[in-house]
Amino acid sequence: ARPVIIDCDPGHDDAMALLLAAGDPRLRLLGVTTVAGNQTLDKTTRNALRILALAGVDGVPVAAGCDRPLTGDLTVAEDIHGVSGLDGPDLDGPVAEVEAGHAVELMRRLIAGSAEPVTLIATGPLTNVASLLRRHPEAGRQVRDIVFMGGSTERGNTTPYGEFNIVTDPEAADLVLRSGLPTTMIGLNVTHRALATTEIIGEFRALGSRLGAVCADLMTFFAGTYRRVFGFAHPPVHDPIAVARVIDPAIVRTVPAPVAVELTGTHTRGATVVDLHRRTSGAVNAEVAVDLDVDAFWRLLLTAVRRLDAA
Ligand code: BDR
Ligand code: CA
Repeated sequence: ARPVIIDCDPGHDDAMALLLAAGDPRLRLLGVTTVAGNQTLDKTTRNALRILALAGVDGVPVAAGCDRPLTGDLTVAEDIHGVSGLDGPDLDGPVAEVEAGHAVELMRRLIAGSAEPVTLIATGPLTNVASLLRRHPEAGRQVRDIVFMGGSTERGNTTPYGEFNIVTDPEAADLVLRSGLPTTMIGLNVTHRALATTEIIGEFRALGSRLGAVCADLMTFFAGTYRRVFGFAHPPVHDPIAVARVIDPAIVRTVPAPVAVELTGTHTRGATVVDLHRRTSGAVNAEVAVDLDVDAFWRLLLTAVRRLDAA
């Protein structure tokens, strides 16, 4: 199985990403690191622990990372994810202890200790990943690739042209995209196709388990906030698509393209400028997601949750 580390800010869709990574046998989840984003670091960390506990995953270390972006202040997405960052389901129950050290240390250690190069899957702002590459360049050289949910080839969701994870820490995204490592960008242009319709939510509930019900409750809460904030009929479940891409690349079609992060724009700071038609002299630095096999994606996620249930 392919060794991966998930760096996340749970977050409803991050929670689904964790379940997919823990429940699919093609991945070996070495560790989970958390970052401030959808909510403050204490909350995203607690949420990661709660989801792993609920899924019956033990032995996977969880470490807390950066509590703010590289530059500027943190603005959380409470309007989308609620006060806890994971509002909706009842997640009560005992949780494991968080690792004593910083997320960047855990990443460094897991990467150094892995016989095979590790894939970093980032589903929050890229602050931890950028900090790792900056502080430990040698760890970067042992990373196989970085697959992140963020950005868009089209418009944004936090500003007209900026997507939340990139807008939250544009300098971190810039550093990652200019690192020279293989990167894959899973942007809103594809994640907005993975809609948790009433039928999909029903399929999770029909699993008849606590985990299935939690998934259904997560997506039902998400549906409410997306309806209120964006007027969407169904919410896009962004983050697990980054995990799906690593499990089965055929699910997400990508094209190689130069991607730059707007750092100084008057209205566009945090926008991903994707040169899809190669009109500039920019060098290709990313595989950019352009299409999603929606049915295969939901089958993958449902199968993973079923497998966690059975375990
Ligand atoms: C991204 O922002 C967060 O709210 C979600 O968890 C996802 O990672 C979507 O723009
Ligand atoms: Ca996220």
